[in-house]
Amino acid sequence: MAHELIDVDRYPIDHPGTHRYDQLVRACRHDMATIGCAVLPGFIPAEIAGGMANQLGTIETFNRCHVLSAWGDPPAADLPADHIHRRRFPEDTHVLAGDQLVGTGLRMFYETDGLNTFLADALDVPELHRFDDQFQDLNVVQIKDGGLHAWHYDLSDFVITLLLQKSEVGGQFEFAPFIRGEVIPGMVGGRDGRVWDERYDDVEQLFAGTWPATHMLDLEPGDLVMFNGLRSMHRVRAVHGSTNRMIAVMSYDTKPGFSSTDAINARLYGPRCQELLNTHL
Ligand SMILES: [Fe+2]
Repeated sequence: MAHELIDVDRYPIDHPGTHRYDQLVRACRHDMATIGCAVLPGFIPAEIAGGMANQLGTIETFNRCHVLSAWGDPPAADLPADHIHRRRFPEDTHVLAGDQLVGTGLRMFYETDGLNTFLADALDVPELHRFDDQFQDLNVVQIKDGGLHAWHYDLSDFVITLLLQKSEVGGQFEFAPFIRGEVIPGMVGGRDGRVWDERYDDVEQLFAGTWPATHMLDLEPGDLVMFNGLRSMHRVRAVHGSTNRMIAVMSYDTKPGFSSTDAINARLYGPRCQELLNTHL
């Protein structure tokens, strides 16, 4: 019974329909609607999060070391050469894929009965299903001394993370709530077919450090975060010191059976993943 991993006295996800459960769901929905982010501090006890982190420290990671646009896709050809959509930022993170987490405490947590039902309630969607993709369903992202995850948008409407280990210095999560506007009706384009009101002037301020409405979270091990990364640009500030920042990323879809392609997984998780896919052809 994996409920023992969760602080159910504080977060009664095992008692849907009760007043306290409804209060918790209401608070999450409020935070998601107002700032696109809901934090549940100490969702699992810090020592359990630390134990999960200790299980992962020796598993070989894949280093994602790139220089990328915050939008991930190329800008429209008519944008000027110095436009911020063309600006590129470094990413230096290390990732573990879902298949490397079989048998870990973290996977036991991800597969907790009722967790996806609670998250669906909190995010105000009819249902949520874990990905049916052995690589993408559950990931761990580690950032080592000097590494960072620069400004970017996510591709999905929401992401659920659990901090397992914090760095000695840095590693704060910084985000600009809903700095991106709504989808522009009737236009087609971009990575997912949608064209957004990008509000480039606001993002220019964000990159310059003068955007007045950023939020910064200094998360503790065991904190659960629900986040809308599609409209809220975000980054993880540089990490310093000998302790890696380690965060679990749990993926869900509103429909069952989501799985990605082999080509995408090989790109996301590197040669180890590619070899595994080759041997199963
Ligand atoms: Fe992200």
